[in-house]
Formats: sequence, C-alpha cells, structure tokens
Amino acid sequence: MHTLTEIQQIVASAIDKLDWSLPPHGLYEPIEYTLRLGGKRLRPCLTLMAADLYDAPLESAIPAAMALEIFHNFTLLHDDVMDHADVRRGQPTVHRRWNENTAILSGDTMSLCAFRQLDGIAERHLKEVLRRFSDMSIQICEGQQYDMDFETRSDVSIDEYMEMIRLKTAVLIASALQIGAVLADAPGSDADALYDFGLHVGLAFQLKDDYLDVYGNPATFGKAIGGDILCNKKTFMLLTAFRLADAPGREALLRLLNDNNSRPQEKIQGVTQIYDNLNVGRHCIDAMEQHLRQALDSLERVQLPAERLAPLRDLANRLMQRDK
Ligand code: IPE
Ligand code: IPE
Ligand code: MG
Ligand code: MG
Ligand code: MG
Repeated sequence: MHTLTEIQQIVASAIDKLDWSLPPHGLYEPIEYTLRLGGKRLRPCLTLMAADLYDAPLESAIPAAMALEIFHNFTLLHDDVMDHADVRRGQPTVHRRWNENTAILSGDTMSLCAFRQLDGIAERHLKEVLRRFSDMSIQICEGQQYDMDFETRSDVSIDEYMEMIRLKTAVLIASALQIGAVLADAPGSDADALYDFGLHVGLAFQLKDDYLDVYGNPATFGKAIGGDILCNKKTFMLLTAFRLADAPGREALLRLLNDNNSRPQEKIQGVTQIYDNLNVGRHCIDAMEQHLRQALDSLERVQLPAERLAPLRDLANRLMQRDK
C-alpha cells in the first residue's frame, strides 16, 4: 500500500504531464493556470486510495483520477462566476484574470477534457464508470442550481440545504472513491460503503467550507472571507442563525440580507457579529463532526482489515482540521 504522500506525488506528476500548450492559447492557458495552482487535489487522491485498498496497479486508476480533478476544476471556474468570487487558491479567479467568456469556454472545455480522459479506462469498466461519472456531473449541476435558487429564498430548510450540498459537493467525493473501487474490481458492497463514506465526508467537507468562508484566515484559505454572506448563500451558518435568533435578531438579520446600500465589509461584519452572538460556528462544527462519525461508520462496512482503511480514516480526520 502507498502512503498519502506517495499518492499525492503520483497525482501531482500525472497532472504535470497533462499537456495544455495547445492553440488557441486563450482557451488552454486558463486551464493550465487553474490546474497548476494546485489546491488540495483531494478527489484524485481518493480515487487512487480506493484502488490501492485492493492492490490494483495505480496506473489503471490515473485516467479516472485526472478526469475527476479536471471536472472539479471546471466546476470552480463556473462557480466563481456564479459566486462573484475574485480570488481562489490565493490568486485571481479565471474570470477576473481574463474575463467571464473565458471562464465559460475554458470551463466547458475542461468538462469535455474530463470525459475525454475516461477513454484511458479499461474496456470492461468503461460503461459503468461512464454512467457513474455522467450521473455525478448532472447531480453537481443540480446542486449548483439549488445553491443559486436558495440565494433569493428566505424559507430554505436545513434538509433542503443538506440535499443541496449532497448534490453540489458530496457526490463528487463519493464518486471519486467508488470509481477507484470499481476500477480495482472491489466487491460491489465495498464500493457502495466507500460511496457512503465519501458522501458523509463530502457533507462534512462542505460544512467546514461554509465555516471557513466566515471564520477562515484569508492567507491560508485562499478565498475571500465573507463571500457567502455577500451572496446571501443559505449556508448552514445562516440557516442556524435564523433558527436560533429571537424575533428582533431575525429582523436584524433580514435587514442585513436585504440591504443593498451598505458597504460589503459592513454587511459581512454585521452578519458575522450575529453568528458570534449565537455561537453559530459551534453548531456548524458539531454538524460537521456528526457527518464525520457517520462517514467513519460507513467505512467500517468495507470488508477489509481495519488497518488497511487507516489512511482513509486519517485523511477524513485531517480534512476536518483543515484551514484551507
Ligand atoms: C472547493 O473544493 C469547492 C468545494 C466543494 C467547497 P476544494 O476545497 O477541494 O478546492 P481545492 O481544489 O482544494 O482548491
Ligand atoms: C462548491 O461550493 C460547489 C462547487 C464548486 C460545485 P462553494 O461555492 O462553496 O465553493 P467555493 O467556496 O467557492 O470553493
Ligand atoms: Mg458556489
Ligand atoms: Mg463558490
Ligand atoms: Mg464555499
């Protein structure tokens, strides 16, 4: 079995080998820019880790791992347009460094290049992986649509929020693991348990992302703090604040959300102050930890010796401690 560091190195060198020096450069340069900036590269690592559980040769899982990372980065290009985000991974977002049309078209190209990568998969797995990958891709778009729809709604429930983040974030992390298991010819019940593990890791991951969007350190987080507040995103934090606030508190929150005149920093500070008063951050971390526990329970259903699963357990725990 490989260590996480070895897996990360294998992923990094496979990404480095992708060749984007193609004409027209206006299309491919932003793709190269995005992929070179790195990020955590969580999803391809999960694919290789899942394949590694069954001692499959890791090369057999590289095309799917690349497809998942390229697809993830595609979603970020479009997400940053939709979320009016100026900074990602500590650098200007593609639509800021170039323009929105570039983010749209380079993003589209990345999503197609992701599917193109799948032609490196062994014939006997291709049909199943293609179906899972396509289903996952559509679900992410559904989640992103709910995320946008919720910006203008004030009656979003926590259940609706959880379903939205399941779609936009968790299915990708779950599928990364499941596809790695499928490529390694793992038993179907193991692939399903790994999917469930990934789903709960993904839910916890997005809860932590929402937390960091308010309480993260911009220097390490690499994104602007308060972006979710400015977009009126119905995050777990905001929904919990509405649930816990008394009537005047709810009024104050609604006033801040509907106020288009005050400066962005004032809105961020005002909402954050309400979060602080209600200890909303603690509730978010509690929910995250609950999904981490459910993730670890799902992992126990995998029919392998517990020590084989230790790297996945450690990674899940580390993701919850992360500051970026
Ligand atoms: C960002 O994903 C989008 C979310 C699902 C929150 P990551 O936090 O994995 O971003 P990178 O790839 O490490 O930059
Ligand atoms: C991430 O949601 C979901 C997708 C990109 C599909 P966010 O909008 O919270 O992600 P960040 O915070 O911009 O990375
Ligand atoms: Mg978004
Ligand atoms: Mg965003
Ligand atoms: Mg976010």
